[in-house]
Amino acid sequence: MSKVNYGIDAPSIMRNLIVFGASTVVAGIAIPLLSDNAVLKYISYLIVLVGSVFFTLGIAMFAYGLKGKYRTRDLMLSKIKWTGNENVLDIGTGQGLLMNGAAKYLTTGKSIGIDIWSSKDLSDNSINKTLANAALEGVIDKIEIRNEDARNLSFADNSFDVVLSLLCIHNIEPKADQEKACLEIARVLKPNGIALIGDYIPTTDYAKAFEKAGLKVKSSKPYFTTAYALMWIVEATK
Ligand SMILES: C[S@@+](CC[C@H](N)C(=O)[O-])C[C@H]1O[C@@H](n2cnc3c(N)ncnc32)[C@H](O)[C@@H]1O
Repeated sequence: MSKVNYGIDAPSIMRNLIVFGASTVVAGIAIPLLSDNAVLKYISYLIVLVGSVFFTLGIAMFAYGLKGKYRTRDLMLSKIKWTGNENVLDIGTGQGLLMNGAAKYLTTGKSIGIDIWSSKDLSDNSINKTLANAALEGVIDKIEIRNEDARNLSFADNSFDVVLSLLCIHNIEPKADQEKACLEIARVLKPNGIALIGDYIPTTDYAKAFEKAGLKVKSSKPYFTTAYALMWIVEATK
């Protein structure tokens, strides 16, 4: 029987960081063994240091995929005062991590996930995988999945009580379009609704876009120990 699996984020970047970091550390250790040159010895320390940073970032991405993403999801969902009848939107749902997590809090409400299912951003990324995860989580009757771009949502203004997004917006290029996605989030959020956006880069620019759209930013801060990796979350209300 297949198991719920929410994928590894940016799999090729993670692999490259681990392989490059490990090879650089090995090269740095090998240099003083092959040469007695004092300058080369100091350069080798620097090489080991740089390699260790890349390796650690790769391992952090792996730890995030194994455990950190579930801890981050739980933290984000715990910030909402659920009644059960919310309309929820998950932007860049991927395989449904937040969409399905939110659906578990719902009785009459609906959790909608939108995505363009890019395979470079998430391993094994497809609508079918997302549907399979929703079925395995027992929330298929509470979710809806749509193929939509975060920059141009089809939903009417003021449609959602909760808008969520995790590790999606940094992928949007050009960077100016990241603001477009934030303005779309603000547009579809209902008055008194809450938006929670998590990303591995500081969420300062997202917070500025929300303020530009008239939202009140409650916080925009790091949660590294929750994610076991780089992670900032911005929380805003309308
Ligand atoms: C790193 S994955 C994260 C998926 C999910 N939120 C999670 O945390 O497991 C980023 C997701 O954003 C989606 N994405 C990237 N650009 C997008 C865009 N312009 N509109 C909608 N989704 C997008 C990708 O297809 C991918 O599924």
